[in-house]
Amino acid sequence: MIDKFVTNKIAELTIEGEKYSLPIIEGTEGEKAIDIRKLRQETGYITLDSGYMNTGSCTSEITYLEGSKGILNYRGYAIEDLAENCSFVEVAYLLLHGHLPTADEYQHFSNLLGRFALIHEDMIHFFDHFPPNTAPMAILSSMVNSLSNFYPEMAENPIEDIDIMATRLISKVRTIAAFTYKKSMGWPLVYPRHDLSYCANFLNMMFDSPVKPYVINDEVVAALNKILILHADHEQNCSTSTVRLVGSARVNLYASISAGISALWGPLHGGANQAVVEMLEDIYASDGDYQTYIDRAKNPDDPFRLVGFGHRVYKSYDPRSIIIKKACDDVLEALNVSDPLLDIAKELEEVALNDEFFIERNLYPNVDFYSGIIYRAIGIPSNMFTVMFALGRLPGWIAHWKEMWDDPNWRIGRPRQIYVGPKHRPFIPKEEREKKDR
Ligand code: CMC
Repeated sequence: MIDKFVTNKIAELTIEGEKYSLPIIEGTEGEKAIDIRKLRQETGYITLDSGYMNTGSCTSEITYLEGSKGILNYRGYAIEDLAENCSFVEVAYLLLHGHLPTADEYQHFSNLLGRFALIHEDMIHFFDHFPPNTAPMAILSSMVNSLSNFYPEMAENPIEDIDIMATRLISKVRTIAAFTYKKSMGWPLVYPRHDLSYCANFLNMMFDSPVKPYVINDEVVAALNKILILHADHEQNCSTSTVRLVGSARVNLYASISAGISALWGPLHGGANQAVVEMLEDIYASDGDYQTYIDRAKNPDDPFRLVGFGHRVYKSYDPRSIIIKKACDDVLEALNVSDPLLDIAKELEEVALNDEFFIERNLYPNVDFYSGIIYRAIGIPSNMFTVMFALGRLPGWIAHWKEMWDDPNWRIGRPRQIYVGPKHRPFIPKEEREKKDR
C-alpha cells in the first residue's frame, strides 16, 4: 500500500559528505513523511526516535487525526457527526468495513452481536479463582487471551469473515466485562439478552438483579453509545500499536487484543480515566484544594502529573473531551444527578487553561478528563472505567489488526537500537573474577 503514496518529491540527506535521496510520501490529508525503508541498506545508518515521536509505523485507511487543529475522523467522517448521529454498533461496522452500514448490513451485524454474546460456561469458573480485588483489567486481559482456546477456529483461519470474527469478540468482551463486575460484587450473573441493543444489553447485565429489575433508561443508553464511539479508535496510540506489533508476529487476534488491553491499563494511557476520578475525589476530600495539585503538576521535582491533561498528538483541544464535557452536563441533568466532582473538574480545567505552565506546553483536557464523571453517573465503579475504555476501543483494535494482517507490505515489527553497553571483553572464569572486573 505504501508505494501508492510515494510522490515525485525527494528529501536529500548528506552523511559525511555523501548525498542520498529519500522519497517523500504524502497521505490523503496531506501528511508528509520521509520514506526511510532503504536507509540502513543504502547508508548503514538507522534512525533513533525514543517514544516514536516522529516515526510512522504504517500507512492506514482507518483514522485521521490532526493534533494541532483538534480534528479526528474515522474513515473520513468527523467524530462530531458520528457521536451525534450514530450508534456504537454502526461506528464499529464503519471502522471494520470502511463504510457506514446499510439497514440490512446493520441488522446482520447486530444479529451476530446477539448470537455470540454467551461465553463458554467453563470460562465462568475462571472468575472464581482470581484473588479478591483483582484489577478488572487483569481479568479482562486473561479472559480475552483464553478465548483463543475456547474458540480456536478463528485462530486457525483468522480473517475468513471479518463480521464473525469482530462480532464474536466485541460481543463476548461485553459479557466478560459485565460478569467481571458482578463477580467482584459477589452478585449473581445476569446473562445477555437477544432482544436488547448492544449498550442496553451491557447495562442490563451490569445492573439487573433478582431483587431489583433494571429499568433501561434511553438517556443512559445514548450516553454510553456516545462515550464508546468517542473511544472507538485513535490511530497508532500505545495499545493499538501494541496490537499491531504483537499481531505482526502472526499471533491470533485474541492474543493480540489481550496485549492491547494490557497496554491500555497503564495510567498514562487508558488507566488515566480511573486516575482522574481518584484525583478529583482527593481534591473533594481536601475541601476543593485544587491549587495544591496544580502546583505539584508544575513542580519539576515532583513526578505528579495532572491526570486527564496533555496528549502526545493533540496540541490543542482534544475534540473528544469537548463532546464528553457537554455529554456530562446532559447526562447529569437528564438523570437529575448533581456530582461535586464535575464542578471541581471544571474549576481545575479553567485554572489550568489560564496558567502559563499549561499554556506554554499546550496542555488541554484529554478524553479521560470528563469520561469518569459520566461513568459515575451511570453507576459504573471507578475500577471498571478502563474496562469501559477497552470495550470502546475494541473495534479500532480489530480494524487495525486486520489491516495489518491484510497488508501486502506487512513485516514482523522489529525495531533496531543503538547499543551503548560494554565493548567486547574477554571472558573471566568464576574463580578469577574480582569486583573491579565489573
Ligand atoms: N501535567 C503536568 N505536566 C505535563 C502533563 C500533565 N498532565 N503532561 C505533560 N506535561 C509536561 C511535561 O512535564 C513536559 O514538561 P517539560 O517540557 O517541562 O519537561 C511537557 O509537558 C511535555 O510532556 P511529555 O511527557 O513530553 O509529553 P508526552 O507526549 O510524552 O506525554 C502524556 C503525553 C499523555 C503521557 C502526558 O501528557 C501525561 O502524562 N498526561 C497525564 C496522563 C493522561 O492523562 N493520559 C491520558 C492520555 S489521553 C488518552 C489515552 O491515550 O489513553
